[in-house]
Amino acid sequence: MRIITTVAEARSLVRSKLRVLVPTMGALHKAHAELIRVAREHAGRNGEVVVSIFVNPLQFEPGSDYERYPRPEEVDEEFCQNAGVDFLFHPNVTEMYADDRSVFVDESSLSNTLEGKSRPGHFRGVCTVVAKLFNILAPDAAVFGEKDFQQLAIVRRVVRDLNFKIDIIAVPTVREEDGLACSSRNQYLNLEERKQAAVLHKALRAVAGASEKSAGDVLALARKVIKQAPLARIDYVELVDSETLQPAEMAGPNTVLVFAVFFGKTRLIDNIRLG
Ligand code: PAJ
Repeated sequence: MRIITTVAEARSLVRSKLRVLVPTMGALHKAHAELIRVAREHAGRNGEVVVSIFVNPLQFEPGSDYERYPRPEEVDEEFCQNAGVDFLFHPNVTEMYADDRSVFVDESSLSNTLEGKSRPGHFRGVCTVVAKLFNILAPDAAVFGEKDFQQLAIVRRVVRDLNFKIDIIAVPTVREEDGLACSSRNQYLNLEERKQAAVLHKALRAVAGASEKSAGDVLALARKVIKQAPLARIDYVELVDSETLQPAEMAGPNTVLVFAVFFGKTRLIDNIRLG
């Protein structure tokens, strides 16, 4: 595996093979391993799998966890090496952003709801860094997780509207044994919070198996289950159309239940497609 830290070096890579990118912020876990596995499957034995690790300051709102976001650099490098990654792009902040940067990628429709509402500026940061990574690494395809359902929809929109010639590959949410979606932020949870966080998957299962169809009933059911955990503090629970991300009136094949819930200071998100 070759580790690349500068844009110039990334640009100098000869592009003759199918290249598949997995963008990450590091603190790699088994969901990232699954994304890398899918990237390899897509690239084939002769293709190139590129992982980027960059904790992107632009997508952290002021006062959030940018400083304390985990950065286990050596462990991550070994993780990529063992996962069969060909290139690891691991730039520092000055390599990625000029002090006087003045151009951003702003998705102006899907970003206004859900995570975008709770975290102003977040998706502007995500879209900007993803567009930069696409330009720097010139992949043929890029892999994203369905856990970040809104991010996936917005990245697809960026690719469509800015005409990136890149296939976006979606990977289903990878979960821990008790159903909690794997996340780099799970390690912030203390033992009791971690135990109670299993309620989130319980809520997804309850909604998926229920016969309730009106948004009001579905949301009430999800909230009731989440509230069984005394430490859970709901940020939002919504039923939305999977394309437009606008509120849906009825649960159906094109709708998704999405939520963000705090346990202590840690904010966890998850979602499930209904239908
Ligand atoms: P990060 O949180 O490191 O996630 C990297 C990729 O892994 C994203 O596509 C995310 O959706 C996926 N992922 C994380 N947990 C997952 C899970 N449990 N199951 C399936 N996929 C999962 O998302 C980001 O970084 C950043 O916003 C980034 C796209 C890299 C831009 O900075």
